Amino acid sequence: VSSDLDAHDPLAAARAKFSLPDGLVYLDGNSLGALSTSVPPALSDAVERQWGRDLIRSWNDNDWWSLPRRVGDRIGALIGAAPGQVMCGESTTIQLFQAIVAATRLRPGRTMIITDGDNFPTDQYVADSVGRLLGLEVVRASPPDLAQKIDERCAVVSYSAVDYRTGELWDLASLTAQARAAGAAIVLDLSHAAGALPVSLDELGADFAVGCGYKYLNGGPGAPAWIYIAARHQSVADLPLTGWHGHADPFELEASFRPAPGIERARIGTPPLLSMLALEAALDVWSTVSLADARAKSLAMSGMVIDFVDAHCPDIEVVTPREMDRRGSQVSLRMPYAYEVCQALIARQVIGDFRAPDLLRLGFAPLYLSYADVEHALAELLDVLTSRAYLDPAFARSAGGAVT
Ligand SMILES: Cc1ncc(COP(=O)(O)O)c(C=O)c1O
Repeated sequence: VSSDLDAHDPLAAARAKFSLPDGLVYLDGNSLGALSTSVPPALSDAVERQWGRDLIRSWNDNDWWSLPRRVGDRIGALIGAAPGQVMCGESTTIQLFQAIVAATRLRPGRTMIITDGDNFPTDQYVADSVGRLLGLEVVRASPPDLAQKIDERCAVVSYSAVDYRTGELWDLASLTAQARAAGAAIVLDLSHAAGALPVSLDELGADFAVGCGYKYLNGGPGAPAWIYIAARHQSVADLPLTGWHGHADPFELEASFRPAPGIERARIGTPPLLSMLALEAALDVWSTVSLADARAKSLAMSGMVIDFVDAHCPDIEVVTPREMDRRGSQVSLRMPYAYEVCQALIARQVIGDFRAPDLLRLGFAPLYLSYADVEHALAELLDVLTSRAYLDPAFARSAGGAVT
């Protein structure tokens, strides 16, 4: 079956644009994307020519100054943002802080921030900190329960598009519409969506969004993140981190901050050029593939896993929704010994990850995975379960294996 699917896969050629060890099935692109073959030459050019020879002149000669905006626009094309609304830089955590504070300041007098109690920890911690800083109450409500909590006291709704544990994709149109109807601003964390599935930020009418560069965008470990600020907010957005790169006239070196017009105000300080050049190179692949094809392939793969588990693994609970429009790009399986099963699979060159207390997460990055890879991973999973290979003490949590 898988050979047929691979033979007709419109994304089959993209696999050659990634460098992965032979024999490895990588189902963790939702945590750290694979190495794009465009990155090593781009990095060596960045280090040897741009830094080594051109030195400080590179800010102009190699367009270092415009890099965050350039990369931002390329990410914007993947999330339905017209040019000039996405700025690349910093970490997701910092961009969340920027976005939640700026969104709160757009709604003076309101007293509440709503976030998801199952949101990624950093999203909750930042919401709590902004609450303390600006004197707002932080209320937890999972996206399906937003309607029960939201009212005219709510300044900001801060949600992730995809639940990182269960892989559930929330209805972004409905969340955005509910926030807008209550007069609240919405901040979306697209870490598990950008590059994995189509998102239409402009069409949704979202206010702010943020996301990682190192998951489905394949920018590499610690790759810079990004922030989206809808054009209609840019002239008034009051971002809390006011660095000199976001100043209207950075080289006048004025004593007081005047924000740059447009998305330029979302710059902070000197960006991590090497990491950003790596991310820029990793984004090249998107000029040869379509996000719609990637989404279709990811859904086919997650569907394969769900069907297989239903048919062969009665002790495993599929936590990820079965409806395609409610599924991100991963399948989460609840099982006893999830940690040990994950380690046993890694020993067999099938890399997924474990999320406490009992989930095995399998992520699908369709640009570099084949259906044969998924079939192979499922055969190994079944073998690990039926042979009870996971009971080997080497895979026990106490053996101290790294949690990937
Ligand atoms: C939804 C979400 N937000 C944020 C992060 C990470 O933030 P940072 O890049 O600042 O570590 C993750 C990491 O997995 C995530 O899943």
